[in-house]
Amino acid sequence: MTTVFVLNGPNLNRLGVREPHIYGTETLSDIEALVRQTAKELSLSVDFRQSNSEGTLIDWVHEAADKAAGLMLNPGALTHYSYALADALSSIDIPKVEVHLSNIHKRESFRQRSVTAAAVDGAILGLGSTGYSAALQALKTLINKRAKS
Ligand code: DQA
Repeated sequence: MTTVFVLNGPNLNRLGVREPHIYGTETLSDIEALVRQTAKELSLSVDFRQSNSEGTLIDWVHEAADKAAGLMLNPGALTHYSYALADALSSIDIPKVEVHLSNIHKRESFRQRSVTAAAVDGAILGLGSTGYSAALQALKTLINKRAKS
């Protein structure tokens, strides 16, 4: 079955208790369950991971190039300053979608810039966990398009 990597960056393991007025009360496990349900409907296999370490995330992006047909990434705060993660994303040639639970454009000015967004096909913002499902659907479409070309 076609595999998609779903990578979650720093502090996303704290979802549920972390600033619920911004990120809601769903935990990362709740989001994983939703992603797995959507993946089942789309006949995709999902490798769902979270790390607080930039280097680990970069290693996983590299791994995705060999093992996955597509990549979904919520880089957390690394979004705003990690040129190393952006370079890792640029170095792999599979469909990639960035996702954010919150609408980063409605928040503090430092969050309004994504240095990683230019290295992915597209981004989904501000839709909470629904954004993860939408990103998976988008990836399925992008993967299918590649298979046909
Ligand atoms: C986030 C937005 C980032 O600014 C923040 O640092 C996060 C979560 C989001 O999903 O809305 O950790 O990526």
